[in-house]
Parts: sequence; structure tokens; C-alpha cells
Amino acid sequence: MKELKNIQDYNGRIKKVLITKEEIDAKIKEAGKVIDSYYDGRPILLVSVLKGAFVFMADLCRAVTVPCEIGFMCAKSYYTGTVSSGVVNITMDLDQDVSGYNVVIVEDIIDTGRTLKDIYELLKARKPLSIRVITLLDKPSRRLVEFTPDLSLFTIEDLFVIGYGLDCGEFYRNLPYIAEYSED
Ligand code: IMP
Ligand code: MG
Repeated sequence: MKELKNIQDYNGRIKKVLITKEEIDAKIKEAGKVIDSYYDGRPILLVSVLKGAFVFMADLCRAVTVPCEIGFMCAKSYYTGTVSSGVVNITMDLDQDVSGYNVVIVEDIIDTGRTLKDIYELLKARKPLSIRVITLLDKPSRRLVEFTPDLSLFTIEDLFVIGYGLDCGEFYRNLPYIAEYSED
């Protein structure tokens, strides 16, 4: 990735809006109802994978009505520009025991599937009551490790996207929509 020089350069790399804020809001409302229906009034623990999922988590937790706790983990996939190196590190673990919880992992995007597979296996080994995965975005054509989420809000092509929590070089997470990133 080339260095960002100024605001014109920054804006120039936002190629095209793929998913608007309104489209995201509508899908999250529906997702909240689906989660409610899964648990039928039972409490859940939403576990978000930082940093990318923090915006999605903030909106999703306000769309569910079942009693809900929030937990955070941090996983870092190392990137060279927009290409994943395949190395996943859990850099911050949950600060609570998940045994006895209905866990819902909240992820921003599933690309190769490596990050989520690792996190899923790790949490499953801790014997939660149940475990499900919800992702905002899914890029199934990029999968290297088999993984299917329980709920995916949007399926996208093999494009590098930014906004609504997703970054490129740590920028663009605060865009309220999801856009395609321009490499040039
Ligand atoms: P995976 O392990 O390859 O499935 O992807 C792991 C992480 O890579 C995701 O949680 C994101 O943080 C990041 N990632 C994958 N694709 C994109 C993208 O298009 N834009 C921004 N981040 C991405
Ligand atoms: Mg992520």
C-alpha cells in the first residue's frame, strides 16, 4: 500500500460505495430479529473480534432484545497491502469464562476463513452452551479454510472493502458505508 499523503489522496482511494448506511441499518434490524428468534428470551454473550467488528457490534447489540452481554477479543491477521499473510494472532483474549454461555461471535468479514476458524475452535474448546457466528460480510470465493457462518448479512465479490469498521492501513474504519478500495 502506498503512503497516504493528504485528504485528496485519502478520498481518491474510496473507489465506489458498495453498501449504503441505510442498507446496512435495514439488514442489522433483520439480523437482530433472527438472533432474538434463535434464543427465545435466553441470555447471550456477543463476542466481537476487534478491531474490524467494533462498529457492527455497536449497532447489532442495539438491534437484539434478548438479555445480552458483550465481550471483546482481538485477532490480527498480518497484511502486506491488501493481501493476507495467513498468520493469525490472538492478541487479546476475552476477560471472562464462556462456559455456560450462548456465545455469538460477531465478525466484520470472512475472507480466507482462517481468523474465524481459529477463534471458533478456541471458544468451542471452552465449552460454551452453544456457539454461533454472525458476519457482516462474506467473501466465499476467497475461502482457503472451510467455514460457513450461521448468519451473513452481505455476500460480496472478491474486492478489498473499507468502511463501517473495516480498514486499509488502519484508515477508513469510520466511514459510515462500505466502499471498494482503489489500489491505484
Ligand atoms: P480471514 O482470516 O482471511 O478470513 O480474514 C481476516 C480479517 O482480514 C478480517 O477479519 C478483516 O479484518 C481482514 N479483511 C479481509 N478482507 C478484508 C477487506 O476486504 N477489507 C478489510 N479487511 C479485510
Ligand atoms: Mg476482523
